[in-house]
Amino acid sequence: MKRAALLMALALGACSGMQTPLAPAADQAEQIRSIWDVMLWVTSFFYLLVIGFLAWAVWRRRRKETAPPRTQVHDQGLERTLAIWAGMIVAGLTLLISWSFLVDRSLASTQDDQALHITVTGAQWWWRVEYTDGTPDKQFETANEIHLPVGETARIKLMTSDVIHSFWVPNLSGKMDMIPGRENVIDITPRKIGVYRGQCAEFCGFQHAHMALTVVVESREDFNRWRNHQLTPAAPPASPKHALGKAVFKAKACSLCHEITGADAGGRTAPNLTHLASRRTIAAGTLPMNRGSLAGWISDPQAIKPGAKMPNVPMSAAESDALVTYLESLK
Ligand code: CUA
Repeated sequence: MKRAALLMALALGACSGMQTPLAPAADQAEQIRSIWDVMLWVTSFFYLLVIGFLAWAVWRRRRKETAPPRTQVHDQGLERTLAIWAGMIVAGLTLLISWSFLVDRSLASTQDDQALHITVTGAQWWWRVEYTDGTPDKQFETANEIHLPVGETARIKLMTSDVIHSFWVPNLSGKMDMIPGRENVIDITPRKIGVYRGQCAEFCGFQHAHMALTVVVESREDFNRWRNHQLTPAAPPASPKHALGKAVFKAKACSLCHEITGADAGGRTAPNLTHLASRRTIAAGTLPMNRGSLAGWISDPQAIKPGAKMPNVPMSAAESDALVTYLESLK
């Protein structure tokens, strides 16, 4: 009973939620959802027909247990029925093939009038997100979290800095591979405000499973507010403890890989931390953003995400405490 309830909850859960193609929140996902609907109806129709005929045959066999077997060579009724059946199968398959072909063509026919241009680069095991619009002073970088204004088409260029990854936010669109030496493009036109989860969909090494991203779909006003904030440099340290944290960040290995705009830290191989604390998660969706996660992550990233490119950086408890306080202030 408990098991049945759990299965039911899982099935219902799949039709709503932040990571499912069955609850589309963008035009592109809506089209993919239509393939699912057509496939479900066509295959259910044939399945029920086959089961119906099977039941009918069993029932007939029981009734005519004693009747002599049919020996007619040319049974015209049977031949006609088989022809109709073959015709129905061809029609069903044609419908499935043409529907998925048309959706695929429609998804591939992207136009060049998008309001928003974003480049997402996959890396072991996180996502670099660059807003590449307009003049250089309107461009900025973040990681593992994408914001999109509702109702506007965003053109997302997909690249990788190492191996093949695959960008997949099921509520918004289908999968698209990120291939070394190639630029793939995906358009997303979100229609519902909300927070959605994406996941790398191509096995890319040790921490493939911990390569998630968050997509926030919001109103134009909220998006502008978020973007204008992301464009600002990091806030200066507000207290001596913050200042110590910043000094630790610059003195230790952190600044070799991470960038904090406005803090003279310009590493480019790891996520940009300028507004780290404004994001919902850390370590590419592995932990929720809070003080405890930050402290745990900094003290032993290899325990939380074995194989991650971030090394364990030795520091004293006081240094670590100050560093976490500083990072927490990077709203
Ligand atoms: Cu990146 Cu799997």
